[in-house]
Parts: sequence; C-alpha cells; structure tokens
Amino acid sequence: MLQKLKELEKESQLKIDKAKNLEELKEIKVRILGKKGALTTLLRSLGTVAPEERPVIGKEANNLRAKLEQAFERKEYELRDAGKENQWEKERIDITLPGRPGLLGQKHPLTLVTEEIKDIFIGLGFKVAHGPDIETDFYNYEALNFPADHPARDMQDSFYITPQLLLRTHTSPVQIRVMEKQAPELPVRIIAPGKVFRRDDDATHSPMFHQVEGLAVDTDITFADLKGTLLLFAREMFGSEQKIRLRPSYFPFTEPSAEVDISCIMCAGKGCRVCSDTGWLEILGSGMVHPNVLEIAGYDSRKVTGFAFGMGVERIAMLKYGIGDLRQFFTNDLRFLKQFGE
Ligand code: PHE
Repeated sequence: MLQKLKELEKESQLKIDKAKNLEELKEIKVRILGKKGALTTLLRSLGTVAPEERPVIGKEANNLRAKLEQAFERKEYELRDAGKENQWEKERIDITLPGRPGLLGQKHPLTLVTEEIKDIFIGLGFKVAHGPDIETDFYNYEALNFPADHPARDMQDSFYITPQLLLRTHTSPVQIRVMEKQAPELPVRIIAPGKVFRRDDDATHSPMFHQVEGLAVDTDITFADLKGTLLLFAREMFGSEQKIRLRPSYFPFTEPSAEVDISCIMCAGKGCRVCSDTGWLEILGSGMVHPNVLEIAGYDSRKVTGFAFGMGVERIAMLKYGIGDLRQFFTNDLRFLKQFGE
C-alpha cells in the first residue's frame, strides 16, 4: 500500500508538471484528488490492510494529499502568469509610438487680463499691493469717507460676517492700508488687484468679481495726471486708436469723481448694440483722492494730492475677448477656458 502511494505521488507530480494550461490542470486534479480520483479510490481499499498498519498509511495518505494540493496550487499560479505573458505578447506594446501627453493647465482669462493690467502699470512705476478679502467696516467704508448712515453704502451692498466685519465690496480699502503704512513718505504709487464681493447676480454681475485699484499720491498730482495715465492704459490695453471720455460721477472718497469710458471696441465709436448706440463703454471709476481720506491715512491734505481709480477685471476681459455672459468666467467649462491662454 505504501508503495502504491509512492507511485501515485510520482505519477501525479509528472502529470502536474506536464499540464499545459489551467483547464488541463483542473482535469488532472479531479482525476487524482476528486471524489472518484486515484487517491480516494486507493484509500477505499484501506480496509484490506492489516489494522495495525492503517494509521501509518492513513497519515501518509493525508500527507500526500496536502503535498499534491500544494503542487497543484503552485502550478496554477505558474500557468496563470504564463497566460498573462501570452496576453502581453498578443497585445504587443509599440514603444516607438508617441506617448499621450498629460493634460497641462493654463491660465484663466481673468488671470491673463489681470497680468496684462499689472504689466502696464508696473511699466509706469506702480508697485503691486494686496489687502485682505475680509475687511473691517473701518477700511471698507469709514476711512473712505462713508459714515455709518451714508446712502452710498447701498450701492455696494455686501456680505457681513459680523456688524464690523464684511467681505470687501471694493479694492479701495487697500488705498488706506497702503497709505497708513507709508505716511508721510512720498510718492505712493500702487495698484491692488483682488477679489471683491457684492450682493448682485445676473449676466453682467457676479457676487464675487475682481478689481484692480490704482492710487498715486505726491506733492503735485493733478487731474491731468489721472487722465493721462488712464488714456495710456486704454491704449496699451485696447489699441493705440483708443479714446477715453470722463463723465462726472460721485464717490465719497474722491472729489471730483469721474466714470471713465473707452470708445466702443466693437464699432470704434460709431454706435452699435454693444455700446447701446452711444459709441462708449464704461470701464472704471476714478477721481482725486478726497482730503478727508488723505488725512485719515496720515497725509497732510494741504501739501499732497492724489488720484485713484478702480476697474472691473471681468468687464475689461469681456470687452477684450467679446464675451457676452460674465458667468462663463466661473462655470469652469473647459470648452470656454481652453480658448484663452498660453
Ligand atoms: N471703489 C469704487 C467702486 O468699486 C471705484 C473707485 C475706485 C472709484 C477708486 C474712485 C476711485 O465702485
């Protein structure tokens, strides 16, 4: 009986080694270890063996079963891996094909326009300054000459965090922060790009949008400097034929104040749908810094003057690229975004 077991082991090992694929191996396994398999059949004849030998043979038979099971398992792994190799062989990777390029991001149109605006003013000697998105009532309103009950606050209705803290409604608070730090040193020449927030939401207004503030303070700044600077900006941004027009306006922190229009870039000032037949498009608010603002920020309003302006970046990007709906900037549609950028 022991002899038979030995033979079965040898035979089985040979068969396992020769198996060419998983199906064949499975068949062999059934034939040896299955209910009607060789090992099981052999064990059925255990009854013919002398009683004292039975435990020894039983033990041997169990050992053999375990051994063979392991051998099957090993072979199964082997065949499976070989199968993979075959598959790779069939698929044939062509390493001479060009790779798939990774998707590279690109700059958002608003970033591009902001950078362009910055470049123009940096070229004129302005420095870039920043302020916080969450402002105090003092910097956003009070120091800019909007007292608590001033009706002009309604034009910039905002998001309050506490009665004294709000999301800034414009970049003008940066004027105060910069002057406060620098006073009484002259000149002040800064631009301040950043996010601003208002309770507006339609095709031309978003609750969050971007502005670039400008401020120049010195001993001899005049309204002509404001006008000349903005004309130069308009020509750099929209082309050398650009004209600008200043209309009287009102801001509590500038006196006098002006809205600035550029000649319509669609019809070159002839009048069209985009400019409502006026030939002009509004791009920013501006004016001479109010004496109260200079004083509160630490400058002597009898000795220094300044101009300031604030432009909407979305507005300028819409005009520059001919975009009809401001919300496109914020919906993150790649078909839109991919049309811009480097
Ligand atoms: N802060 C004003 C606004 O957001 C724009 C402005 C800036 C006007 C600077 C004058 C001077 O409407």
